[in-house]
Amino acid sequence: MRTVIVTGGAAGIGRETAKLFARKGNRVVIADIDEIGARGAAEEIAEAGGLAVARRLDVSSEEQWNDFAEWVFAEFGPAHVLVNNAGVMDLGGFVETNAAQWQREIDIDLMSVIYGSKVFAQQMIDHGVRGHIVNLSSMAACFPSPLEPAYGVAKSAVLMASQALRVELRRHGIGVTAILPGAIRTDLVANGQRSGLSETDAERWRAEAGGMQKYAFGGPDKVARVIERAVRHNWAIVPVNVEAWALYGLFRLSPSLTREVLSRVSFDRLEALIPTARSLLAGVTGK
Ligand SMILES: NC(=O)c1ccc[n+]([C@@H]2O[C@H](COP(=O)([O-])OP(=O)(O)OC[C@H]3O[C@@H](n4cnc5c(N)ncnc54)[C@H](O)[C@@H]3O)[C@@H](O)[C@H]2O)c1
Repeated sequence: MRTVIVTGGAAGIGRETAKLFARKGNRVVIADIDEIGARGAAEEIAEAGGLAVARRLDVSSEEQWNDFAEWVFAEFGPAHVLVNNAGVMDLGGFVETNAAQWQREIDIDLMSVIYGSKVFAQQMIDHGVRGHIVNLSSMAACFPSPLEPAYGVAKSAVLMASQALRVELRRHGIGVTAILPGAIRTDLVANGQRSGLSETDAERWRAEAGGMQKYAFGGPDKVARVIERAVRHNWAIVPVNVEAWALYGLFRLSPSLTREVLSRVSFDRLEALIPTARSLLAGVTGK
């Protein structure tokens, strides 16, 4: 039986990914900073007849990654698949985001992928496992936006890290994939932070902008299916959803046009659009 590790498996994309790999007959290890949520996900899998265990892990800590990898090996032997999914999306302009806020985004969204990939790739190499590592990047990697520069910096670095790792691990028979989802129906925005505002305004803004995410076209189960297929076929880079493919293509075709379009985006314009967009979408979707 293969062992599949999913970080951030307590909620959203990670939870659906853990459920899918379990349905496919794998043993799943759900690693999340939200231990209660991770246990809930493991119980849901067990109730459906699957095999899953939950473990607390703060992915931004290298020490915790090293302890976690030792624990996985002691319990189940070497892991076969690692899905580096845990992440946060903090919003706020480049200048107004302070150094500590930049650091938080880099630690959780980028360093997590580096720590996890290093320790589990080494485990796979040492034990001759022809495994797979999946890293959750984002369409934000092709999206030099004034709304989420720290997130975009972390996710574009994840995209490059995945490709560099893929090239390096090829001779060991280990595959590496970067997944670039578009807008997906989860609580990612509501769970993130917003810089440049007072705490009360940031709270209000997150609730409003986060509330819009429920209208996103793609669900987390769609990303889970893409992740599972990417492991089976050893795909390198996979955008998910039409907007992610469009941005991926546009940014490669014309970075200058992408920048031109995105220079018209601002928090003020977005805020002015939200009420109209919400009533339109509520009318169309009935949500
Ligand atoms: N939802 C989208 O629209 C979207 C789009 C592109 C990329 N992504 C990426 O997909 C991944 C999953 O996002 P989601 O939408 O399911 O979000 P989510 O907020 O629903 O779930 C994120 C999970 O990560 C966990 N987590 C957060 N910080 C952690 C830490 N330090 N250590 C361990 N676990 C931690 C949370 O507890 C949660 O279970 C993220 O990397 C995100 O950037 C999401």
